[in-house]
Amino acid sequence: MKSLARELPFTPLEVEGRLPDGLRGTLVRAGPGLYELFGKPVAHSFEADGAISAVRISGPAGEPRVEGALRLVESDGLREERAKGRPLFGGRAWWPRRLWNSVRLVRKNTGNTALMSFRERLFALVESSPPTELDPRTLDTIGEAHLDVIGKAFSAHPHRVIDRASTIGFGLEYGPETRIHLYELLDRGTPATRELGSVPLPYPVMLHDFAVTPTRALFLVSPVRIDILRALLAIGEFSRLVTYHPELGVEVIVVPLDRPGEATRFSVDPFFQWHFAGARDDGDALETVFVRHPDFGTFEGLRNDAPRSTGLLVRARIEPAAKRLAIEELWDGHCEFPRLDPRFEGRATTPFSQVFLVEEHEGARHLVRHDLRRGVARRHALEGGLAGSEIVFVPRSAEAPEGDGWALALVHDPRTDRSHVRVIDTARFEDAPVALCHFPEWVPMTFHGLWLPA
Ligand SMILES: [Fe+2]
Repeated sequence: MKSLARELPFTPLEVEGRLPDGLRGTLVRAGPGLYELFGKPVAHSFEADGAISAVRISGPAGEPRVEGALRLVESDGLREERAKGRPLFGGRAWWPRRLWNSVRLVRKNTGNTALMSFRERLFALVESSPPTELDPRTLDTIGEAHLDVIGKAFSAHPHRVIDRASTIGFGLEYGPETRIHLYELLDRGTPATRELGSVPLPYPVMLHDFAVTPTRALFLVSPVRIDILRALLAIGEFSRLVTYHPELGVEVIVVPLDRPGEATRFSVDPFFQWHFAGARDDGDALETVFVRHPDFGTFEGLRNDAPRSTGLLVRARIEPAAKRLAIEELWDGHCEFPRLDPRFEGRATTPFSQVFLVEEHEGARHLVRHDLRRGVARRHALEGGLAGSEIVFVPRSAEAPEGDGWALALVHDPRTDRSHVRVIDTARFEDAPVALCHFPEWVPMTFHGLWLPA
């Protein structure tokens, strides 16, 4: 895995094809940027300092101006390491410093996983730490932000809930007891943020994502246990700090957002999930669409940037009163990174039906638009060893039908060792992209991104 070669301020990019007139805004993506520091490699990509890539499209119709930028998340920890000229965090630090970090409960806030937009502000997220605020114009790091209520951690997967005019996220607190804290970030009004409540867990887990409807949060807690003491002391390899215990099963936790103390919980047979597409209420029942893995093998794959293809798109129907969960497979393609049309996130009355995915097929990563209603998957093939990122979808207009617009993905071309942002017209999803915005060089792998409309 190669580190970011250099930082790049916003710089004009070479464009191939024709950018749509309606597409004006900035695609921002986050991922691990520094796989080594002072000659010492990271043990797992999750430990790497974050890099943010951006492609900004501005200008009048017919005359788009396209600029790209590559920036590191300049955390306090990274600044301190650079000032001292040696690694001070994680398994690369020497042991007295690790002990000192653990006593002070200090970690490096790498911001290497995802981005969140809230009230015109931009934040880089990593699940072990609070958000890191970035300047959306320059991607300069402003600093850690607790937004008045967030404790030591905030997951990289907050979700928009349009029908509550808010974003709901969670953070895990490890200690004598492990707790999930639920936070709501309100689009308008004061206070801007609030903690909705917290739920205890029986043991410390790794929990990446959750699903939320306008009334309830849904956690499918897979049995991935974290050794907190070893993690604090950074003893052993990062990937050995988490272990999979299928015998413990998955705990299903349904939390009413306005009465978090009345959570329903029960256990089902084991599986693992990284990402949810979305969820909806159906009377007392809930339905969620997510990518289900039979086990935790994909975590090992992330160590060497070669995730195993094991995920299948499924729909789960949860009946809290009966303590029942039923799973239906929706498609037989191995996939990950499900994303929705953002206008259909957290709606009570308008269920989503279009899911964008990355399909992993015989070593290649293709882009997919899946229509849940018709059960049809359309593939935008990436041939020649091209590797595509998660799709970020941008609607053609406010009134366009669900899923009608542009799919944006960051793609690495091994033949030129350069990366580009590919713009696909979703009405002609299988066809050649309408435009490519070429970075002058390679952009390290990114996990998640978002579109900031102009
Ligand atoms: Fe993720």
